[in-house]
Amino acid sequence: MGNIKILGGRKLSGSLRIQGSKNAALPMIAASVLHNGKSVLHNCPQIADVGYMTEILNGLGARTWWEGKSLHLDCTHLRYGQIPSVYAEKMRSSIIYLGALLGRFHQSAIAHPGGCVIGARPIDIHLQVLKLLGAHIREKDGMIYASCTQLKGNEYEFPKISVGATQQAILAAVKAQGVTRLHRCAREPEVQWLVRYLNSRGADITGENTGEIVVRGVEQLTDLEYEVPPDRIVAGTYLCAGAITRSKITLENVPVEEMESFLHMYRKMGGQYEVNSGKLLADSRELNRAVTYLETDVYPGFPTDLQSPLMAVLTTVRGVSHIRETIFEDRYKAAEGLQKMGAAIDVNGQDAWIYGGASLRGARLKARELRGGAALVLAGLAASGETVVEDCEYIERGYEHICEDLSALGGVIRKEE
Ligand code: EPZ
Repeated sequence: MGNIKILGGRKLSGSLRIQGSKNAALPMIAASVLHNGKSVLHNCPQIADVGYMTEILNGLGARTWWEGKSLHLDCTHLRYGQIPSVYAEKMRSSIIYLGALLGRFHQSAIAHPGGCVIGARPIDIHLQVLKLLGAHIREKDGMIYASCTQLKGNEYEFPKISVGATQQAILAAVKAQGVTRLHRCAREPEVQWLVRYLNSRGADITGENTGEIVVRGVEQLTDLEYEVPPDRIVAGTYLCAGAITRSKITLENVPVEEMESFLHMYRKMGGQYEVNSGKLLADSRELNRAVTYLETDVYPGFPTDLQSPLMAVLTTVRGVSHIRETIFEDRYKAAEGLQKMGAAIDVNGQDAWIYGGASLRGARLKARELRGGAALVLAGLAASGETVVEDCEYIERGYEHICEDLSALGGVIRKEE
């Protein structure tokens, strides 16, 4: 595993273009199996998770290749096959293939993804909605086997809001017979983009931003070239880099309209920003207010994926901040590393109190998961001295060029093997 080395204590400046969205690209790649033709995803982030998704496709007979930042997927000769368990272990979101492969081959098989460090990550709702659409699901020796004669439209109310389960249902319903009505769907931008992507190639889906999605099954989809939208979580992470170093930076290609709750919090903390001609100018030089109380929530609430980066910022803001993580049961992994750097944080179940203002000291840390690892890198930018974040592969699952990006903003940061 590689390490990221940061020499902290410097202001950032300059501008940076935000990469394509990991969480928008992954379901779009899965959706390509629904069509025995070609898909091209422009501005696709070249990250580990995208690599795993294409390796799975290659293993099933598809052809995938890159032309610059464009990912080409040719599923003409896709053949049925089980998805090897190694992928479910490496990337739990490979479960998104279950419904799509079922839609294409009327059967699919994948290892149960299991949990991860941020929570149990059950898939019961994924399986429930596939059964309701006509799938027969069998679990044996850690594998999930799904089969059907034909997926049929039905009506379903999600017992809780789930991004992945909503996407799973949509992918299974796209070519099902008849109409599928889904209630209490996730409204995250990544669900909305998947619907726009599918409708651009012949699907018939409405209601993606209302929580009430209706999918009318179609016979065929078409080839498609599509632009992956910018990553709102990466944009928020780099805004936190500017905030933790009290810098003024410019970010380009930022999906500002998808970041209202985060930007509202940023302003409440004393951050100032303006948007002109597609650029976000963020001035954190006067940022100095703690956050009395913040709950993560489903969209459009404050995104759980930015909870750890925000926590890192709050360790440098004088006063007591209180965060409540309502989406995942164990998502304060970054606290341990931040405490090692001198931060005062109390974690109790879903709640974390940050007694901010202490100056952070560089330390040798371990990334435990994607967003918590990114939070430690941010803290390294503000800390005095050198910080080493080990196991940076976790971070590279979602951040295409975090070292190059932060260097472009003036950070002294590099990867060492
Ligand atoms: C997606 O995960 C994202 N991943 C996550 O981003 C993100 O944190 C999460 O949505 C919430 O926004 C991708 O898009 C690849 P959920 P997902 O299903 O779909 C429970 C990152 O850092 N649940 O919305 O797995 C679940 O345990 C990653 O980029 C069930 O109980 O999240 C959680 O408590 C991390 N049963 C809640 O729902 C199920 O069948 C929300 O999870 C499914 C989920």
